[in-house]
Amino acid sequence: MSIRNILIHPDPRLKKIVAPVPTVNDDIRQLADDMLETMYDAPGIGLAAPQIAVNARMLVMDCAKDAEATPEPMVLINPQVIWSSVERSVYDEGCLSIPDQYAEVERPASVKVSWTDLDGREVQETFDDLWATCVQHEIDHLDGKLFIDYLKPLKRQMITRKMQKLKREMARG
Ligand code: NI
Repeated sequence: MSIRNILIHPDPRLKKIVAPVPTVNDDIRQLADDMLETMYDAPGIGLAAPQIAVNARMLVMDCAKDAEATPEPMVLINPQVIWSSVERSVYDEGCLSIPDQYAEVERPASVKVSWTDLDGREVQETFDDLWATCVQHEIDHLDGKLFIDYLKPLKRQMITRKMQKLKREMARG
């Protein structure tokens, strides 16, 4: 396993619609391991493949993030939202590609998602609470959408300018 470099917004690779995974093979299982390790190391509760510059519709998440909680790593390949609740909820969202910036985003409170698992099986599950927010946030990444795209333009521009400054500082070392 290895920790991959996480792309920081703004980056054109974070704005692309990502390609489906054609088959689940050992390369994909290796990628899943790397994504989980990268997510836990960050630390974060979700990570999508384009965030590590991989063009594959794939995400990992673990929202059981309390120190005492048993880890619940999940790997979703080619995920699709197949049902959304009318009820909505608001979470203060963040993103590993937009470090230290948080904003409230409103989304459906529950969603049913279908995906392919690491054994190539089709799976469906309904997510609620933080899991619902997280899975929607990560699926958005596969369509080139970031949580700041839900914010008012002024707020979005402010965050983008902060990230541009951060990237200049990181480039300088
Ligand atoms: Ni994110």
